[in-house]
Amino acid sequence: MFAGTGRHQGGGYTGNMLWIKAFHIVMVASWFAGLFYLPRIFVNLAMVPPDSVAEWDRLLLMARKLLRFTTLLAVPALGLGLVLWLYYGIGLAPGNAWMHAKLGLVAVALAYHWQCAVLLRQFVNHKNTRSHVWYRWFNEAPVILMVIIVVLVVVKPF
Ligand code: HEM
Repeated sequence: MFAGTGRHQGGGYTGNMLWIKAFHIVMVASWFAGLFYLPRIFVNLAMVPPDSVAEWDRLLLMARKLLRFTTLLAVPALGLGLVLWLYYGIGLAPGNAWMHAKLGLVAVALAYHWQCAVLLRQFVNHKNTRSHVWYRWFNEAPVILMVIIVVLVVVKPF
């Protein structure tokens, strides 16, 4: 009925692909929610006074659970993205520079995720050396990454 909005847009835009894309977006959004919130917990951990043991333990527990959960969400987010790219061939043909730029930024997001795990280990071992202000700036990185990735994949500027 609506040209271009249905399940037969051509170029592999089939019903199944749209379901996969929908869940790719849901999983990516959930993964990034973790990447936004985990460094907020680090901000709070970096501000805990040395004698507030209960607060420290509670924040550490929250951070560990969130890291585990957001890591679990990253797997389907990336897996479904790979299906769209490699199986459905979206962005695979030569000339899709937006896709290469996106993949580069996804690699940066994974490095950020890994860095969160490293920083959490430092908190667990009481080896944190950074201030809450540093963590506030660190917290901005996933926001910038997500904005650029979404613009790349939706606008496809090059
Ligand atoms: C291994 C990593 C990833 C791969 C291979 C991948 C691949 C893809 C592909 C091929 C599409 C379809 C694009 C289109 O229909 O034009 C897509 C859609 C999308 N991806 Fe990813 N993606 C990955 C990770 C991410 C991440 C980390 C984000 C966000 C931070 C993201 C956000 C999106 C969004 C919002 C769409 C929907 C675009 C639209 O339909 O207009 N993806 N992805």
